[in-house]
Amino acid sequence: MSDKKQTHFGFRTVDEDAKAGMVHGVFSRVASRYDLMNDLMSAGVHRLWKNAMMDWLAPRGGQHLLDVAGGTGDIAFRFLDRAPQARVTVCDMTESMLIEGRKRADAADRGDRLAGVTGDAMALPFPDSSFDRYTISFGIRNVTRIPDALAEAYRVLRPGGRLMVLEFSRLPVPAMQWAYDRYSFNVIPAMGQAVTGDRDSYQYLVESIRKFPDQEAFGALIREAGFGRVQWRNLSMGIAALHSGWKL
Ligand SMILES: C[S@@+](CC[C@H](N)C(=O)[O-])C[C@H]1O[C@@H](n2cnc3c(N)ncnc32)[C@H](O)[C@@H]1O
Repeated sequence: MSDKKQTHFGFRTVDEDAKAGMVHGVFSRVASRYDLMNDLMSAGVHRLWKNAMMDWLAPRGGQHLLDVAGGTGDIAFRFLDRAPQARVTVCDMTESMLIEGRKRADAADRGDRLAGVTGDAMALPFPDSSFDRYTISFGIRNVTRIPDALAEAYRVLRPGGRLMVLEFSRLPVPAMQWAYDRYSFNVIPAMGQAVTGDRDSYQYLVESIRKFPDQEAFGALIREAGFGRVQWRNLSMGIAALHSGWKL
């Protein structure tokens, strides 16, 4: 057993300094099929959740959004669709996810207000107080030290800036959670194998969802990072949740 600090990678215990490389491996392998798999796994519902995020975030022209773990650009594109005068910087540690996003931006001819930067949520390559909004969608559960990522979110937001997190969460009724777990563990890895040839990456995905804190506990972490007016909303009864906080 290693004497280094340990963390989880799905249900496995791994050295803390090994996790980011493993997560990078997952998203490098699935990047070209990532968007298709999202639609298949959720029957398109992830689009509704991302739209709900935009409804609550209410983008405005002139704002500069930092979308961390922004992957192929789903949040960035939605933000710009609602606020065409805004700017978005997408930061992700997996270059191949950003490349897929760049292809989509070029195809839709909307790359001029969008920048892609390779970087780690726990050590963002941006100065203090440089963004109006910070989003992270289905990204934070992959981060090795979640409090470090939240501290970085707080640092790069301007005073008055807002954080919003979209992430898988917990259903309130055990029987519903049981049924959802059966679907997740039996269907999603098999679907991942069929569509991407990579069962293990999707096994990690479902396991990482189970390891992520519930709504209340994650809200407490956001408060501990210094954010005020912390609130959350369940999506699809708690399969996912939105958390919002302000740098007051
Ligand atoms: C499930 S995808 C989410 C993509 C997009 N935000 C969405 O909602 O569809 C997770 C993304 O998080 C990125 N990621 C994981 N850990 C990260 C970290 N520590 N810093 C930055 N990006 C990270 C991965 O590279 C991947 O692109």
